[in-house]
Amino acid sequence: MPVQDSNTAQEGLPEGVAPLRRGPGKHVEINLARLQQLGMVTQDGGRTSVAEDFRIIKRPLLRMARGEHGAIEQGNLIVVTSALPGEGKTYCAVNLAMSIAMEMDITVLLVDADVARPSVLKVLGLGAEAGLMDILLNGKLELGDVILRTNVPTLSILPAGRANKHATELLASRSMRHLLKDIAERYADRVIIFDSPPLLITTEASVLAAQMGQVVLVVEAETTTQHAVKEALRQIDTCAHVNLIYNKIRAFPGGEYYGYYE
Ligand SMILES: Nc1ncnc2c1ncn2[C@@H]1O[C@H](COP(=O)(O)OP(=O)(O)OP(=O)(O)O)[C@@H](O)[C@H]1O
Ligand SMILES: [Mg+2]
Repeated sequence: MPVQDSNTAQEGLPEGVAPLRRGPGKHVEINLARLQQLGMVTQDGGRTSVAEDFRIIKRPLLRMARGEHGAIEQGNLIVVTSALPGEGKTYCAVNLAMSIAMEMDITVLLVDADVARPSVLKVLGLGAEAGLMDILLNGKLELGDVILRTNVPTLSILPAGRANKHATELLASRSMRHLLKDIAERYADRVIIFDSPPLLITTEASVLAAQMGQVVLVVEAETTTQHAVKEALRQIDTCAHVNLIYNKIRAFPGGEYYGYYE
């Protein structure tokens, strides 16, 4: 993938929105047509039911991130997690990031913090790249060296980077705390969405959640038990701002939702 001139990569940013980073960073092309075919939210995808769902989901998160209910610490750091594997964390994190990237005055950094089993780049049709783990391991690497700018001008990506057996310790480390503080403060007009591993299978997710301003807990409809949800909520009880997404609700014939229409 060619390294782009930073001026070229900034084209198309809404007026008044500063580029996410300075420096030589890489530019990648997300295959938006493929994403659209997969039913994910894209800028040109129109008013699909998924796009409408994420429009509703993002509003309270953005209000909180902007401090409209009173300033909350690092409210622009939002982790998407769930009790168990496969509930839809990555699906929701990517769609949420895409949906927020459509806002006029906000840029988004999507972080793949599922460092043991990263999948954000795969879902976006991109190859593996250096990322979060590499910055935490190598003091000389900076955020700006690994952030990927994309063909969605308001969306950048921080990949998970190389897998490491000390991932939990790295995510709980002082370097990570500094990195998060740096991301939250340096990019205060940005929303940072973290995809994460499941809470009840790994320790990484609760370590991450403890450092975030907001948590989105994805719950797979008709599959995840009440007990699992309660246990997941218990693991993130240090975070004051938890939102739930009830995911994979079965559609009814003739319409997305059960309801009455005249
Ligand atoms: N609302 C939805 N509508 C349609 N498909 C969905 C929805 N949510 C998730 N999926 C699909 O379900 C599968 C699992 O979702 P996803 O990979 O996002 O889960 P995950 O929680 O990130 O899993 P893991 O714990 O393995 O990281 C994927 O194929 C995804 O496309
Ligand atoms: Mg995932």
